[in-house]
Amino acid sequence: MAQSAFDTSSAARFSQARPQTGEPGIWHDQTSNQQMHTQGDRVSDDYRASHCAPGYGAHYNKTHDSGYYGALWEKIEKPLILDVLRPMGGAGRNCLDFACGTGRIANVAAGLFGEVVGADVSKSMLDCAQVPPNVRLLHIDMTRQPLGETFDVATAFRFFLNAEDQLKRDALKAINEHLKDGGRLVCNVHMNATSPIGLVCRLLNRLFGRTVRHTLSVARFKELLTASGFLVEETIPYGYLPRPGNLLSGVCEALMEPFERASRTLRVPGQLAQHFLVVAKKR
Ligand SMILES: C[S@@+](CC[C@H](N)C(=O)[O-])C[C@H]1O[C@@H](n2cnc3c(N)ncnc32)[C@H](O)[C@@H]1O
Repeated sequence: MAQSAFDTSSAARFSQARPQTGEPGIWHDQTSNQQMHTQGDRVSDDYRASHCAPGYGAHYNKTHDSGYYGALWEKIEKPLILDVLRPMGGAGRNCLDFACGTGRIANVAAGLFGEVVGADVSKSMLDCAQVPPNVRLLHIDMTRQPLGETFDVATAFRFFLNAEDQLKRDALKAINEHLKDGGRLVCNVHMNATSPIGLVCRLLNRLFGRTVRHTLSVARFKELLTASGFLVEETIPYGYLPRPGNLLSGVCEALMEPFERASRTLRVPGQLAQHFLVVAKKR
């Protein structure tokens, strides 16, 4: 059970997935004046409240258990996160999982760090988290209330895409302030604006004259990180198999890994991957 700052109750490989650091040709850098849409896949006026409804945590876990998202997590994302976090870990080191939700990333970090803190504003999400004893879950909005401790590493997954621009900035500021000097943020964006589905989303947004689905480009996210006191060290594209909505989930599961391998072997440009992971250092 999570400790709460709101109700103060107390409280649970795919080694080739990661291209070599600085691998040339994977990202073809965009210019920052390129048309960019920072909107996207769960459109909400208030992202802080978007996962708070009773039962939402169970629904979230179910979504990530099977189909495209299940395969992406088990075959690509989790091994990649392990690869990236492993060299940053250690028994005497700690990790903050910002917007930890149901604890997917906190659980991965728990095996690599001595201590992990997961923080989220949604009790519904936290109530569905099952975590080992070295993970402390906190029901808190760190953008409004500091934790009073600092960390070697912070993670933030599936958060920045759909958070409002002000919340993105508030979260980056809070994360930066909770990192030790030279600490690192490892985070992702789950709808790259330049991927095929990202382009479809941008087209839909334009056709409907409103945000149907959020997208975020590497260039725009780098700008935000830089403006918030981070130095971007690495961007890693992944998830080359486009997600065809809720269709063909079995086919996606079967094709996900071979498609990823083939895309890397053929050096498909990173712009076409649907997701990207970023490692940024506190300046
Ligand atoms: C899509 S979920 C991602 C959960 C988890 N990181 C994962 O990858 O499975 C986004 C999470 O952000 C949380 N959130 C939104 N605003 C927040 C804030 N200001 N502080 C902490 N968490 C926040 C939501 O409650 C939700 O659990």
